[in-house]
Amino acid sequence: MGLYASNNMLCTQCEAEGFRRITFHPDRPDVLSRYKVRMAGDKTLFPILLSNGNCIAAGEEGNNHWALWEDPWPKPSYLFALVAGDLVVNRDEFVTLSGRKVELGIWVREGDVERTGHAMKALKDSMAWDERVYGREYDLDLFNIVAVSDFNMGAMENKGLNIFNTRYILADPDTATDLDYDGVEGVVAHEYFHNWSGNRVTCRDWFQLSLKEGFTVFRDQNFSADMGSPPVKRIEDVRLLRAAQFPEDAGPLAHPIRPDSYQEISNFYTATVYNKGAEIIRMMATLLGPERFRKGTDLYFDRHDGEAATCEDFVRAMEEGGGIDLTQFRRWYEQAGTPRLKLSLGEADGEWFLDVAQTVPPTPGQPDKRPAMMPLRLAAFAMDGSAQLPDTLAVLSGATQRISLGRFAARPALSVNRGFSAPVIIDFERAPGELAWLAAHDDDPFARYEALQQLMLDTLVAAVSGEKADAGAVIDAIGRTIAAARPIRPSSPKPYCCRARLSSATRC
Ligand code: BES
Ligand code: ZN
Repeated sequence: MGLYASNNMLCTQCEAEGFRRITFHPDRPDVLSRYKVRMAGDKTLFPILLSNGNCIAAGEEGNNHWALWEDPWPKPSYLFALVAGDLVVNRDEFVTLSGRKVELGIWVREGDVERTGHAMKALKDSMAWDERVYGREYDLDLFNIVAVSDFNMGAMENKGLNIFNTRYILADPDTATDLDYDGVEGVVAHEYFHNWSGNRVTCRDWFQLSLKEGFTVFRDQNFSADMGSPPVKRIEDVRLLRAAQFPEDAGPLAHPIRPDSYQEISNFYTATVYNKGAEIIRMMATLLGPERFRKGTDLYFDRHDGEAATCEDFVRAMEEGGGIDLTQFRRWYEQAGTPRLKLSLGEADGEWFLDVAQTVPPTPGQPDKRPAMMPLRLAAFAMDGSAQLPDTLAVLSGATQRISLGRFAARPALSVNRGFSAPVIIDFERAPGELAWLAAHDDDPFARYEALQQLMLDTLVAAVSGEKADAGAVIDAIGRTIAAARPIRPSSPKPYCCRARLSSATRC
């Protein structure tokens, strides 16, 4: 943290508490100041001098040169950055919705510039997406990214001067996989989106970290979904949540997305703050629906522009913009632990219902938990096609709740937590026949994926437990899934297994 020298380059990393290692300063995110930075040095060793904002003057004195940078926007010290070194640039430009021309630069070591094309496209796509989806324009004449190979983090959103690990900038068909390409696109977007969710509206203190990180992860997830396949992106994000965050929430390090105390904030950039934080924002977006969610974010950005805000400010903007009471929903910010929903299907006179019992497990320091408000998307299907409860949004709030499903002649196949509408663990037994049917027919792609996963898992567990396992049913379900599948991007000119420039003769 602070200002460091690496590979003949000078570079900074100030988030969270690095600025205090450069100079004396009230180094906390609620102290916003305007910065004017004069850099001077040997022009052979450090031919490029970069800092935040716009370069307003430059000059030479013998073998030394200097540059004066001014950032007109007040910012917390953690967003300060400077870079001095021998770099080359890929330059481009972007014209904002209101017609302002922004100069874009991606700075890398000599020889790497050919591998910056995908990052530049991702940057321009992100700028257009934030205008279209959130009504947020860029606010300086210049946006620079520097890619360095010695960087502990993935990337950092310093105002007007993002600093990246080369891993998230450089890509070409010879050295990068599809996953690498998606990583570049997602991280460029994430850091760019912080310009509003983090920089223009920043955090009052580091307890509010999820205010900027959870929200910005939610934004980059939706951007990547829009740039590719929404269900594939949702499946990837849920797999990550289950692999990294669920274990954290179930172990000795469990903590709420807004922690109550910390010894070292650098250790709090966790899967809970980031990925569970994004799920909490997603639930509010689901509860509100797209129009009211947009009203809520407009209110949040307008009301807190230029301020250091809190998670509570965000929730209040959602409540007022969306016209909804989120009192009970706030428990998600206070309670650690992954809630469990125990489901049981029942029937009376041909009318079917679903009973839901919610528990939140005890976690260190939090022995007693209360049920939280959450959106549970579900649908129910008669497997003979005679009846259907179409996609329904149930809002859970109590410890137990009954949801009526309507008339079915026999037990319906239940499609539940569609799109992974709530970050919970579901205890619900479904017969192999129901899972196979859902794997082939469910109209929610995420739920279809889940059904097939569950069917395969149940079959494997049965096989290793010495019970009867019907592998034929699994093969049949996979076959029907493939048969029912449609190309995700039928009009795409390229095969979707390959992102980059390929000759028509290339085979994947
Ligand atoms: N603000 C963080 C960078 C950061 C992380 C600073 C930890 C200080 C401590 C940045 O926006 C970020 O979240 N970067 C991620 C990548 C992102 C796509 C999740 C990273 O560096 O891993
Ligand atoms: Zn971030």
